Amino acid sequence: MVPTPITVRVPAKLNLHLSVGDSRSDGYHELVTVFQALSLIDEVTIRASDEPGLEVHGEGADSTPTGADNLAWRAVGELARASGRDPEDPGVRISLNKGIPVAGGMGGGSSDAAATLLALNSLWRLEMGRDELAEVAGALGSDVPFALQGGTALGTGRGERLVPVLARHTYHWVIALHEDGLRTPEVYGELDRLRRNSGSRVGDVEPVLEALASGDPRELALLLGNDLQAAAVSLRPVLRRTLRAGVDAGALAGIVSGSGPTCAFLCTDADEAVRVAAELSGAGVCRTVRVAQGPVPGARLVGDERTD
Ligand code: C5P
Repeated sequence: MVPTPITVRVPAKLNLHLSVGDSRSDGYHELVTVFQALSLIDEVTIRASDEPGLEVHGEGADSTPTGADNLAWRAVGELARASGRDPEDPGVRISLNKGIPVAGGMGGGSSDAAATLLALNSLWRLEMGRDELAEVAGALGSDVPFALQGGTALGTGRGERLVPVLARHTYHWVIALHEDGLRTPEVYGELDRLRRNSGSRVGDVEPVLEALASGDPRELALLLGNDLQAAAVSLRPVLRRTLRAGVDAGALAGIVSGSGPTCAFLCTDADEAVRVAAELSGAGVCRTVRVAQGPVPGARLVGDERTD
């Protein structure tokens, strides 16, 4: 009997705090980061098929790689290998429905990989636990374990070692999307280059954790920080105008998301976010805007959203 297709919904991530240390011998940077999962969602459907492959629908579908370099497809290979299947002929077809900006610094590719792991675990009846899946996830990419976990979390190492963080409030965000993405390794490279001359660094993470525990968006707004922001702005100077326009429109604060170029603006409440989004979309400093809220849960099988 052919198993029924499995669909997983998976959120985007935003780094509320991203402290980048020096470059390691493996080329990665040591991070201290606070992730929050936001309600921009990709839907990933996996079915058994004699024609293995990957198709992409939704916004940014044209600029998403569909070959072996797609992280979701690499997740198939990884899990096939781990479960004694042929990674070259896994017998599955993936359909991605994109709601997360492509190459935007919101972890879209990582989220698709996390969703793929969860879906295949079910389709192939592997019965791997969350911890085992998280291990495979960490090998695939620094942000993949967080997409499985969701919520708000402190990440260390490459960002793959996670501890959940208490966040008392639902935060309301306006997300500004840009036309062309930025490549993450280039942004890290630019940061290394900028730091040869000077470079300020974001502060300690503890006050951010305290602000999250208090639940006051005004307190959190003062503490948002991203070491990659200067590098993203250096590569894409328009972002400076975008960040200013969001605050001028009434947001509490704005930040580049991860390696950019997406910018996220924290607002006092849901109504204010809708108002800021409308004003920002008329300012001509980004391609389009979205409203989102966080934290939301990590990757979930559709029909199974209430389980943890
Ligand atoms: O782990 P992931 O594949 O998402 O990382 C993409 C790229 O981002 C890496 O190849 C590296 O250039 C950069 N990176 C880094 N330090 C990290 C995470 C990512 O330098 N902690």
